[in-house]
Amino acid sequence: MDILTLLQPDDWHAHLRDGDSLKRTVPDLAKQFHRAICMPNLVPPVKTVEEAVAYRERIMQHVPEGIDFDPRMVLYFTDHTPSDEIKKIKDSSVVNAIKLYPAGATTNSDNGVSDIRKVYHVIEQLEEHQVPLLLHGEVTHSHVDIFDREKRFLDEVLTPLLRQFPQLKLVLEHITTADAAHFVLEQGRQVAATITPQHLLFNRNDMLVGGIKPHFYCLPILKRQSHQTTLLEVATSGNPKFFLGTDSAPHAQSKKENACGCAGCYSAPYAIELYAQAFDQMGKLDKLEGFASHFGADFYGLERNSKTITLVRKEQTIAERLTYFPNDDIIPLFAGQTINWSLQ
Ligand code: DOR
Ligand code: ZN
Repeated sequence: MDILTLLQPDDWHAHLRDGDSLKRTVPDLAKQFHRAICMPNLVPPVKTVEEAVAYRERIMQHVPEGIDFDPRMVLYFTDHTPSDEIKKIKDSSVVNAIKLYPAGATTNSDNGVSDIRKVYHVIEQLEEHQVPLLLHGEVTHSHVDIFDREKRFLDEVLTPLLRQFPQLKLVLEHITTADAAHFVLEQGRQVAATITPQHLLFNRNDMLVGGIKPHFYCLPILKRQSHQTTLLEVATSGNPKFFLGTDSAPHAQSKKENACGCAGCYSAPYAIELYAQAFDQMGKLDKLEGFASHFGADFYGLERNSKTITLVRKEQTIAERLTYFPNDDIIPLFAGQTINWSLQ
């Protein structure tokens, strides 16, 4: 298979940021994806439907001429999210979900939820209205090892949550472990997961052997190879519970190559080709369209796209750097490396 035509894919988890960042991030994403779930961890976060509508308008100003891009918005769950905001999401034509960051788990999560049990009255409304809850699935206690934080979240937070709310529609975002993959497989159709290109293509050795590689640092952190193998298996299995979400997260070079470097991999400009590389390695290119273009839309209850994109088996070298701010570039995921697939 050297030419692959797919229904246009969607990215069900992306960080576009705000202000000048949008000049870079919006065109990079919109050249491949029709829709993207735009994560709300701005400073300050996007907490209401009204703020999400305004943020969407700022994004739309950066969509290149002739490109049909449809940002799908998400609210940021805090300890103070009012229950009646959930009905507003249900009634909104641009907001599709709410994202819960455990406070302190990752970039701009300080306003996240301090204890999920405190917001069960709001989650009740999510279940009632079938509004998806998007989860950053890691516990944050300082005594829990960073490599165990996802597994501990499954046991300590997610299992009790689903016992309390068995019909809750939920996406476990950017899963990184075999434990999370198996957990999702054991639940009903209302529980799904996104998987990033970095967690399919790399493991912690890529980040830590032969020198520390800050551009592979993201959260949840890359795990050992056996987890990567399971993620590849489930992503390429054709199971609709697993779909594309890049977690493309831009940070300027100076913020990544730093004594205290930020978490996030910038994959937006090459995302679909990176996924094609992973699926090809598994001999499962035939399963890419479901993962990239069908299952996410089906889960969110949105129509599948109608246009197509074409990928060709043609080598391309990922840029060493991309312009971001006037004096600070961005280093994309797998910078300077050659992959086998190109977008036509
Ligand atoms: O690596 C990450 N970067 N993980 C997240 O959860 C957030 C993201 C960001 O916003 O930079
Ligand atoms: Zn994210």
